[in-house]
Amino acid sequence: MNITGLQLRGALIEAARDALAAPSVFNTQPWIWRTSTESLQLFADEHRRLATDPDGRQLMISCGCALHHACVALSANGLIPDVQRRRAETINGPLAVVTVREAAAHDTQLNLYRAMARRRTDRRAFTAEPVSSATVSTLIAAAEQHGAHLQPLTADHLTVLRQVAGEAAVRQATEPAYQEELLRWTNRPAEAGDGVPAVTAVTASERRVPVRDFTYFSSGYSAGPEHDVGAVYGLLFTDADTLTDRLRAGEALSAVLLTATAAGLGSSPFSDVIEFPDLRAKLLRLISGPGQPQILVRVGHPPPGRPAQSPRRPAAQMLDPP
Ligand SMILES: Cc1cc2nc3c(=O)[nH]c(=O)nc-3n(C[C@H](O)[C@H](O)[C@H](O)COP(=O)(O)O)c2cc1C
Repeated sequence: MNITGLQLRGALIEAARDALAAPSVFNTQPWIWRTSTESLQLFADEHRRLATDPDGRQLMISCGCALHHACVALSANGLIPDVQRRRAETINGPLAVVTVREAAAHDTQLNLYRAMARRRTDRRAFTAEPVSSATVSTLIAAAEQHGAHLQPLTADHLTVLRQVAGEAAVRQATEPAYQEELLRWTNRPAEAGDGVPAVTAVTASERRVPVRDFTYFSSGYSAGPEHDVGAVYGLLFTDADTLTDRLRAGEALSAVLLTATAAGLGSSPFSDVIEFPDLRAKLLRLISGPGQPQILVRVGHPPPGRPAQSPRRPAAQMLDPP
């Protein structure tokens, strides 16, 4: 290997910094990277786990997104990441260890890397222009490459999803723990660099499938004149439901979102329908074979303009040593 230990450490730290762009539930950015001259170790930041995420599913998926972002950054830098995922029963200890080998940067990885800076959760309604079946196949392949599955939902499935999302919204509106959490994460001080600020939230409106309402304790912008007619809704699921499966679901989610961004599409994950066990059980029936629902995505052609960028914490806060 021609690269020196010092250069390697620099590349690993740079990848961990780049991973800050990853999506995370409520923009909690719940991960920590321990860096050395040989590896990156990914840890979950337990203090950033949501009270309404008792089994840590959203936390692990968020960590998986950061892991995938770091690997894309390394690949774009001409390094092949080798990821060892810990088969963990608890979230304590390293979730994954990333080491690298040298190689040439591949075009696909460069495209995904460029997409990392452009991707934003777009909560506006997408246009009537359909997402091509070739693009849908690429999104499915992106999920498969990371050990998860993406099932595009049919019109019948969407009827179920719409009903389940409506039920989730009713429960959220009346659950004190959820409301408390929403109040906290939608009213973060600017210097915190996290949370879901009003500039990125949309006000509630009639939608094909309701999106999570972040505007109870803040404002938001209009979802726009479109109706998501051409949007594809996909259910991301895994074969089993261990912590490692959830981490992989996060890696797959990141791959799907970046692939969509690279194709010029808008996207947004949504997880409120997964957070209630009985509602999640209803989604089980949408999967054609056995599988464990992890998260949903909406992908489509966005209307003109771009949604505002979400804040990020200073990288030093999630690097050990800073
Ligand atoms: C595990 C997970 C769950 C999420 N759930 C939702 C959701 O239910 N509704 C939503 O609008 N966005 C959801 N998001 C998107 C985050 O809110 C978003 O990534 C975060 O606010 C940062 O914004 P960005 O994606 O534009 O960088 C989720 C993201 C992740 C990784």
